Amino acid sequence: MNKKHFETIAIRDQWERSENKEHSVPLYLTSGFVFDDAEEMRASFAEEKQRDLYSRYSNPNTNEFISKMCKLEGAEAGFAFSSGMAAVYSTFAALLSSGDHIVSARSVFGATHGLFTKYFPKWNIETSYFSINEPENIESLIQPNTKFIYCETPTNPGVDVLDMEYVSAIAKKHNILFIVDNCFATPYLQNPIKFGADLVIHSATKLIDGQGRVLGGVTVGSEALIREVYLFSRLTGPSMSPFNAWILSKSLETLAVRADKQCDNALKLAEFLEKHPKVRSVKYPFLKSHPQYEIAKKQMKLGGTIVCFEVINGVEGGKTFFDSIKMCSLSANLGDSRTIVTHPSSTTHAKLSDEDKIAVGILPGTVRCSLGLEHINDIIEDIEQALSKI
Ligand SMILES: Cc1ncc(COP(=O)(O)O)c(C=O)c1O
Repeated sequence: MNKKHFETIAIRDQWERSENKEHSVPLYLTSGFVFDDAEEMRASFAEEKQRDLYSRYSNPNTNEFISKMCKLEGAEAGFAFSSGMAAVYSTFAALLSSGDHIVSARSVFGATHGLFTKYFPKWNIETSYFSINEPENIESLIQPNTKFIYCETPTNPGVDVLDMEYVSAIAKKHNILFIVDNCFATPYLQNPIKFGADLVIHSATKLIDGQGRVLGGVTVGSEALIREVYLFSRLTGPSMSPFNAWILSKSLETLAVRADKQCDNALKLAEFLEKHPKVRSVKYPFLKSHPQYEIAKKQMKLGGTIVCFEVINGVEGGKTFFDSIKMCSLSANLGDSRTIVTHPSSTTHAKLSDEDKIAVGILPGTVRCSLGLEHINDIIEDIEQALSKI
């Protein structure tokens, strides 16, 4: 059977069947695994024999999830984490040493920004920032001690898009790594490795889970880099639980159909908002008005499931909008089957200074809308009635 299509890999890539011949992979809720004798145990711990030893290191359920993610992203190897932030932190911590330097997009997820500003400086790791709208400045920020260039594309919450081919060429020229957080796109919409990324990080909590049930994260890339990430993680213990891996592997089976529908809903909402008098601006990668529309079209299959817009009347307008929403959920998550509206300024990105918020396009009236699977007419009706109250 030719397994080349995304949907087929996501559904048919499965861990070995047990002697019970189950159709769906069993849940391996076990912390450890047993050995036949002392020699097998020694050889396994010495990595002379490849097998599961202890679920902090690996487990059949995490193995299945990682194997699928690697195939879907076009990567050699991966490691799965308890959350997206565990993946971000552990990947960085495995690769960085005191005295290293990072070049990062200014618009990154609030918690990642917190790592750069609050924790890394105390370990003598500094970060320089570039605006995603001015990638031509990236090269000038690179220093002899720069370890990697980091970005999210599309960004959270502004859905700005970075040309990954352009940035990876800079990274290669300077012999440094290029790491991409692919959370907003998922491997269904884009594969950063195809555009030159060395490592790809995901919060699987979002569209990969798709139903707001579990936290998870994963990093994929070359064998050599993932080996570093693995060695750090098996010591420090940020591993994904077998239960979450089982859920997430099942979730991947439906990612393509969910993403198709949610992206379609997102485009329809974005087009509706573009004409609405109570909306000052709308950002969606597949709207022609998006500043990086051409780049988005080049590297993404569809425009994503997130629409970012700014209502009129600033803080007051935003408050009225959120207080008037009836069906959509006021929540901080995204990528759920339920449409969610979030106020980044007071929630996910609240820790950013006012100056940093403005620099990454988070204004008091900015709304991040994560489109779900409800009927688009019902979503638009709810958002329209909330806008009419402003
Ligand atoms: C782009 C991005 N990266 C990382 C994370 C962190 O993921 P988690 O909440 O699973 O730790 C998030 C969460 O919203 C995110 O949006």
